[in-house]
Amino acid sequence: MTSLRAGVIGLGVGFQHALGLAQHPDCELVALCDRDPAKLHEASERFPGAEPFDSAEALLEGCDLDLVCVASYDEDHAAQILRALALGRHVFAEKPLSVHPEETAAIHEALERHPHLRLSSNTVLRASPRFADLKRRIDAGRLGRIYAIEGDYNYGRLEKLTDGWRGRIPDYSVILGGGIHMADLLLWLTGQPVREVMAMGNGIASAGSRFTGRDYAVALLQFADGTVGKLTANFGCVEPHVHRLLVYGTEATFENRRGPARLWQSRAADAKPEAIETPYPGVTKHALLPSFIAAIRHGSRPLVDENDVLGAMQLCHAIEQALDCGRPVRVQAPHLSRTLREAHHA
Ligand SMILES: NC(=O)c1ccc[n+]([C@@H]2O[C@H](COP(=O)([O-])OP(=O)(O)OC[C@H]3O[C@@H](n4cnc5c(N)ncnc54)[C@H](O)[C@@H]3O)[C@@H](O)[C@H]2O)c1
Repeated sequence: MTSLRAGVIGLGVGFQHALGLAQHPDCELVALCDRDPAKLHEASERFPGAEPFDSAEALLEGCDLDLVCVASYDEDHAAQILRALALGRHVFAEKPLSVHPEETAAIHEALERHPHLRLSSNTVLRASPRFADLKRRIDAGRLGRIYAIEGDYNYGRLEKLTDGWRGRIPDYSVILGGGIHMADLLLWLTGQPVREVMAMGNGIASAGSRFTGRDYAVALLQFADGTVGKLTANFGCVEPHVHRLLVYGTEATFENRRGPARLWQSRAADAKPEAIETPYPGVTKHALLPSFIAAIRHGSRPLVDENDVLGAMQLCHAIEQALDCGRPVRVQAPHLSRTLREAHHA
């Protein structure tokens, strides 16, 4: 088999994608793009075999590619993803896939039109050894029946809103920009779709800055099997970045935090939790690429597939809508025909 010809748009976290592609035996990194000349120059020095482009359009239209990594700013993702799919490229996109529900719907339709093309997104916590280990324990029944799950995206980097590019995006959403990592994790760990959400938020932590949106948002989630969830995106918290996670099962309670996680298996007052030492986060920003490349080449299921990506997006869009309207919102579940897609590749 010949190598997959790959290109990367946006060379911040996209530089990490480029590293992952360059070191993959089935890939050839042939194109790089950044509209910032300094970033492009730096990446070109590191990857001299890749052709540099100063615009996404130039890379997409001017280069024969099999795979495009989209790592530009959030509001540019959808147009670049749609163009790449229209040109017959597989796409690995940074989160969020888009900033508007209509754009997510357009990407969904494009995937239906091009069933041979694969799409994934960088909700990379699934590749964290800590959460992969938790998923195995849940699937093996070690926690019993899960009845409640809480995920907090505590970013602790308020300056990214008040001084960085995020704060310049009109109506920047901390749910789409950060909470989506927890949305993906909660959907994956429970294996259940969310039916309905309620949400509240505020912008107190960033008040007085140029950012005028919500820096904090919390949502309650009603899963299809009756499990109840809570998800927060908290950009202003005064603590370092952490993904706090609580999973309550009928047999055990799991708690992720900095340092070892804890698994409680008794209600006794003197009970001691099992310390879980698996690395956290312990994951590179290109950790999802090998399973995605295998999916393109061999038709296998990637760690994050199209329905996973669309499902997390639909959940985040519904939370945004609930934040705006102050009422419960039903969540649309994606219905991409996965079986057909994977059969096509087999
Ligand atoms: N999955 C993760 O854990 C993770 C982590 C960080 C960032 N991200 C996502 O990655 C994206 C980029 O964030 P970042 O932290 O790398 O930002 P960044 O500012 O560090 O880098 C982004 C780069 O992309 C370039 N760029 C942006 N839009 C472009 C366009 N339309 N055409 C060409 N170049 C463009 C910018 O010039 C910049 O050099 C965002 O969508 C963000 O949400 C994801």
